[in-house]
Amino acid sequence: MPTHPAVVTVTPRGKLEILEVPTLTPKENQVKIRVDWIASTPLNLHQADGHLLVTPPQILGGGLAGTVLSLGPDVKRLRVGDRVFGFAWRSNEEKPHQVYVVVPENLLARVPETEEYAGEQGMRRAATVSDSFVTAWHSLVTYLGLELPWPKREGYEPPKRDERVLVWGASSSSGSYTVQVLKWAGYKNILATASPKHHAALKEMGAAEVYDYRDPAVVENILKGGEVRYVLDSIGSVDGSVTPISKIVRRGAIVAVLLPVIIKDASEEEAPIYTFDVTGSVNWEEGVTALGVRTHSYLDNELHAEKLQPEIMPTLLQEGAIRPTNQKIIEGNTLLERAQNALDTLRRKEVSGERLVWRIAEAQ
Ligand SMILES: NC(=O)c1ccc[n+]([C@@H]2O[C@H](COP(=O)([O-])OP(=O)(O)OC[C@H]3O[C@@H](n4cnc5c(N)ncnc54)[C@H](OP(=O)(O)O)[C@@H]3O)[C@@H](O)[C@H]2O)c1
Repeated sequence: MPTHPAVVTVTPRGKLEILEVPTLTPKENQVKIRVDWIASTPLNLHQADGHLLVTPPQILGGGLAGTVLSLGPDVKRLRVGDRVFGFAWRSNEEKPHQVYVVVPENLLARVPETEEYAGEQGMRRAATVSDSFVTAWHSLVTYLGLELPWPKREGYEPPKRDERVLVWGASSSSGSYTVQVLKWAGYKNILATASPKHHAALKEMGAAEVYDYRDPAVVENILKGGEVRYVLDSIGSVDGSVTPISKIVRRGAIVAVLLPVIIKDASEEEAPIYTFDVTGSVNWEEGVTALGVRTHSYLDNELHAEKLQPEIMPTLLQEGAIRPTNQKIIEGNTLLERAQNALDTLRRKEVSGERLVWRIAEAQ
């Protein structure tokens, strides 16, 4: 059987390694893709350093942009040669830190055929979108219970359009898509926390109020505008986000926290510590619903399984309702070097309002 290189984590905090894995033929509704570009996410670090839900040697990955090479017999929508992007994570055969993957077509969208998404730059842009977009949409609908329309009819207004919805960590990739999706759906009172250098961009994306999360008076300032009943914590840090949010919300509020809850973040000196226990991670006021988001469960919703990646995501992208996260290109002479450089950059926290993107397959 032919093989190809994949990037794997073998031991917690150890160097990444290359493993030769079988190159599979697509079955049923799968397509075989050459992975051209991928975007690193904090989950790569949680997995490499914390071995969070990892069975080694495990291939890493999440969001990809690549080219369709062959089709399973039941594929209906995609064609050989299509440029596609999507979030694939469920098994080693799908995870995109490897040169070829086989992925069902409902986890993939076509890259828009516009000038903005042409060529290499277009693929890099597209690679940044899927996992964060899916996280944003799924968190809002499934955990916060905020309506998002699909399809969106002319004149649609969400039933809770005037609620103050707080996105903590809005300059993160998932946070920025959350702000943009809320704006697109018609929500009027979107609150965002981020470093001040991102405030203007977040206002443009749709935030009505912006706050510096490092300001000691941030909780007080947010409460000056009134009650907050819906919060998406796009950071999940006990000290950096969950604790201040617990001081904002009162009985009746819903808080969705992107898991894992980080007790200690990975660093060059120390191993990380995580928990999945959102309710026990801080003292919540009685009557607050605090939930841990798992994007990986989004396929349980039939509409999401069928349309979220193939249809909703590229439509919003093409319409300009969502914009790709800024990209920082990670260089390296080999696949392993690029993977390790990306991981080291994540560990050093050299990421602010951007995604690390790097090549998987060598340039064609
Ligand atoms: N459970 C799930 O399904 C799921 C899905 C997606 C993501 N996640 C998790 O969610 C977290 C964020 O992921 P991401 O990819 O969106 O992150 P990211 O884009 O890498 O986030 C980087 C941003 O975080 C911001 N930030 C750091 N600490 C902050 C704090 N205390 N308060 C507010 N903002 C802060 C920084 O903001 P400034 O530059 O403005 O300072 C920076 O722009 C990660 O832990 C990830 O694993 C979980």
